[in-house]
Amino acid sequence: MSTPQFIQLYQHNAAAVAQELLAGLSAPQAFTSPKYLYDALGSRLFEAITELPEYDLTRTEAQLMQLHSADMARHLPTGACWIDLGAGNCEKAGRLLGPMAAGRYVAVDISVDFVRQALDVLQRQHPGLPMAGLGTDFSGGLDLPDALDLDPAQPRVLFYPGSSIGNFTPEQALGFLRSLHQACGTAAGSGLLIGVDLLKEPAELEAAYDDALGVTAAFDLNLLLHINRLVGSDFAVRDWQHLSRFNKQASRVEMHLKARQAVRVQWPGGERLFAAGETIHTENACKWVVPNFEALLRSAGFASTRVWTDPEKRFAVVWAVA
Ligand code: AVJ
Repeated sequence: MSTPQFIQLYQHNAAAVAQELLAGLSAPQAFTSPKYLYDALGSRLFEAITELPEYDLTRTEAQLMQLHSADMARHLPTGACWIDLGAGNCEKAGRLLGPMAAGRYVAVDISVDFVRQALDVLQRQHPGLPMAGLGTDFSGGLDLPDALDLDPAQPRVLFYPGSSIGNFTPEQALGFLRSLHQACGTAAGSGLLIGVDLLKEPAELEAAYDDALGVTAAFDLNLLLHINRLVGSDFAVRDWQHLSRFNKQASRVEMHLKARQAVRVQWPGGERLFAAGETIHTENACKWVVPNFEALLRSAGFASTRVWTDPEKRFAVVWAVA
């Protein structure tokens, strides 16, 4: 049986994290990066979100992958090296490795500790499949280290499900997708398998990010507790209210935390006063229409696309050949 290889590149730098967060919190329109939503509790709350009636994104994607797996297997290369971006529990890719006849599996996440257990389990299910865990922050673009010893002749499938691409504005998405195109390498048949949530009714979109049980509100508010630990600030959760609003102009749902009254937030070396109603912009979830997303992939360097979508066009899974 093969044993997974583990490589940790990302090193947490507390001073750099605090500096980045405080710069955002001090901006005229305060903002934070969505990556800070995922501390231990935040990750569990996100898993709960995927089970909510209002949030059908994860379920619709899983159905599409299952329904079209035979057709996908006809379009994707066999024996490929699967590079799973934001692998987490490795469940989504784990279901495809067999049907797609993968030749290698690389689970990428910010910390290899997030994928260690899942990879050990997956390795037992696929004893002969070479596997690696890579701990790297790819939010600014993907760089594959020499230590992975990738075979330039083996096709690559970059796997980026879940509509995580929606966190990027179109301009950011273009730069990010260009880095993925680069990471596809030069072997014939390589490409990107990506899931993207599609534009739908504003009321429906807003409800998906502001559910009746308040799980998404808890997910968003928990960010304040995480920030308190990261920068030593004194945010009080009860001072803030979760908001989900559809920005039609930008075709995205925005999550904000709104000050319920005038709030003073202090941290070592600084403070900010928020007026009643002032917000912190905590996440963008861009919603695409298929033709625009295909055009974006082409601008990023991808040659051709194959799209699988549900009859109501709620979600799309796209195979983009490098
Ligand atoms: C993990 C970024 C795809 O934007 O739908 C879910 C995160 N935020 N509910 C999304 C999220 C609030 C999710 N992504």
